[in-house]
Amino acid sequence: MSQPVTDVRTRALDVAYRRGARPLLFRLGGGDAEAVHHRTVDLVQALGDRPWARTGVSRALAPPGAPVRLLGLTFPNRVGLAAGMDKDGRGVRAWGALGFGHVELGTVTAHPQPGNDRPRLFRLPASRAVINRMGFNNAGVAALARRLREAREEGAIDIPVGVSIGKTKVTPLEDAVEDYLTSVRALDGLADYLAVNVSSPNTPGLRDLQDAGPLAELLGAVVGETRRLAGEGRATPVLVKLAPDLTDAALEQALAVAIGAGAAGLIATNTTIGRRHVAPVDRALAEREAGGLSGAPLTRRAREVVARIRAATDLPQIGVGGVMTVDDAAAMLDAGADLVQVYTGLIYAGPALVRQVAALPARPARAAR
Ligand SMILES: Cc1cc2nc3c(=O)[nH]c(=O)nc-3n(C[C@H](O)[C@H](O)[C@H](O)COP(=O)(O)O)c2cc1C
Repeated sequence: MSQPVTDVRTRALDVAYRRGARPLLFRLGGGDAEAVHHRTVDLVQALGDRPWARTGVSRALAPPGAPVRLLGLTFPNRVGLAAGMDKDGRGVRAWGALGFGHVELGTVTAHPQPGNDRPRLFRLPASRAVINRMGFNNAGVAALARRLREAREEGAIDIPVGVSIGKTKVTPLEDAVEDYLTSVRALDGLADYLAVNVSSPNTPGLRDLQDAGPLAELLGAVVGETRRLAGEGRATPVLVKLAPDLTDAALEQALAVAIGAGAAGLIATNTTIGRRHVAPVDRALAEREAGGLSGAPLTRRAREVVARIRAATDLPQIGVGGVMTVDDAAAMLDAGADLVQVYTGLIYAGPALVRQVAALPARPARAAR
């Protein structure tokens, strides 16, 4: 097992978050987890909008860690922010200052949409987990593209920025390809990679796009469009984000299709519709509330999927799901991930986790990739 980084700043951050910020955040808004989420992104956006503050925070928090070359990009470290936290890219200027080595914005859809009815986000503290059925609430790809263009023109983005794309809810499944292509075109030249999200449990029918036929059609079209847009240049890498609930056979099939269609990499995994490994006190809530489960109950399964993918292909892979501690991150890297992402871990462990993961030494088995 790796040694957690215990430098003074990391310890101070850890204590400040666990004893100060987290109890406050969890009580805020009368326990309305989504309200807290929006306030947090407001704060991150406010930080990004103030260059002096950004520089100050960056100086204070800049994690140690060696850059990683992957997907034709340079990542300052191995830990990224997973999709769903910053759907509209409001904090795109600030995530790097907070220590992340990349961010995946979105999931964004061709058309703006409100998402599902509230409440749709639930904390399960005893399980260190979250259930969400947000349903791709987002301001639409055009708004994200505008924001990204402005930030890029300002030179305010200092880490690779991926964008996760999904299907608008009202678009029928048979028109899904065109819906995704609208996002691909709008993001041309703005995203460092695209993540094709076919694994969220909260858009009806979306996960059917992981089946061989529809997946081949969708990825063929998306990869083809990025190549067409790039002309003689380098096409934007296209990654596919998979669910942890696929059977082994379905996972193998999806991988074969992704590789055949020219995907540049995989992201594993999204949230689970399963309810295993939930603490007894959270069971009633977990059974009652529909949606994707993330956090500690997902740790083992996500790692297992990453290992299966690694056994099947050498393509770049981002491991995500239940990275709650630096040891979870190390295990994910050892299972075959080249980079890791966190979401629920950030809610429970705070920014010290990012700093610790960023400082993990290169994994010997992956060092040459
Ligand atoms: C509130 C919430 C919203 C999410 N929204 C998205 C999303 O829009 N697109 C996506 O690909 N994943 C989304 N995810 C899934 C995360 O990116 C991640 O794959 C999953 O939560 C597992 O990682 P974790 O255990 O570190 O949270 C969301 C997760 C949460 C908790």
